[in-house]
Amino acid sequence: MSASSSSESSQSSQALPRVVVLATGGTIAGSSGSAASSAQYQAATVPVSHLVQAVPVLADVARVETEQVAQVDSKDMMFSLWQQLAARVTHWSLQPDVAGIVITHGTDTLEETAMFLHLTQACPVPVVLTAAMRPSTSLSADGPLNLLDAVRVAVSPEARGRGVLVVLNQQIHAARDVTKSHTSAVDAFVSPMTGPLGFMQDAYIRFARAPAMSGAARLPVPTTWPMVEIVASYAQPGRAMVDALVAARVKGVVVAATGNGSVHETLSGALADAADAGVAVVRSSRTGAGHVAIPARMSPRAGAFLSAADLNPYKARVLLMLALAADPALGTDAARLQALFAAH
Ligand code: SIN
Repeated sequence: MSASSSSESSQSSQALPRVVVLATGGTIAGSSGSAASSAQYQAATVPVSHLVQAVPVLADVARVETEQVAQVDSKDMMFSLWQQLAARVTHWSLQPDVAGIVITHGTDTLEETAMFLHLTQACPVPVVLTAAMRPSTSLSADGPLNLLDAVRVAVSPEARGRGVLVVLNQQIHAARDVTKSHTSAVDAFVSPMTGPLGFMQDAYIRFARAPAMSGAARLPVPTTWPMVEIVASYAQPGRAMVDALVAARVKGVVVAATGNGSVHETLSGALADAADAGVAVVRSSRTGAGHVAIPARMSPRAGAFLSAADLNPYKARVLLMLALAADPALGTDAARLQALFAAH
């Protein structure tokens, strides 16, 4: 792990705010043998110091320091890296002269890391995740502008107190709400239920609203992670996966349910047995948007399991893992667990 300054110190640059860029890999650090290719490339190859050097105008915005926390394709994200990232965010955010923190990340699991940080970090300074849909070597690479914009947001006084943010494609999203919605388009990131928090054009930044849930109590970063998995409901599902998860001592299951949280009767029967065995079962929707209605009465035998509110299955899994790690008794306390989903 190394920390380095990307620009020469000078009298005028000393007056600029200090920003730390924590790099984890992804397509923003990807490279390809051909500039014409934005689909055939290797993610996580270019060091963060090179990414910063490729955007000289950053030196007019902030004193940027870099730290290569990891160099991974985010499809391979691990809890150990989340723990490491949380520790580095905490470390840097407590330095009195650090104005903001930027995290470069792969797009594939960015929404999960963003959710993890949203739930665990108090954020005394802005924490801004960014990424790119095209590798750094491609024509019209989107990484350089996204990185510049993320640093601009990180030093903006307007960004303070808005929780963890995600900046791509000149839009500012709340970490809780954002999701990747396209395989390759540069406008892949959307907040389906709320829209972006704000937008920007060059140095002009405009926040349209405050993020929901940014005031919720933070959850601790787990040292051991309870097993929580996702199963989906679809035409004629089997129950073998749920039974295998229970046999493997799963602690929680998030169902990517149909429509407004409905679950196929076969799967529902298996999940009711899992709930009887002490497994926390939470329904999210596989539709991509909308709120799963909270049942008036929890009734697993009637398919009425907990609701993940408007969280997609991947974000709901992050919350369920953190909740069960903080308090395993929540797994069998439907009322308290439902209140937690309503509050985060
Ligand atoms: C990754 O998620 O690390 C690769 C894909 C991307 O960043 O777009």
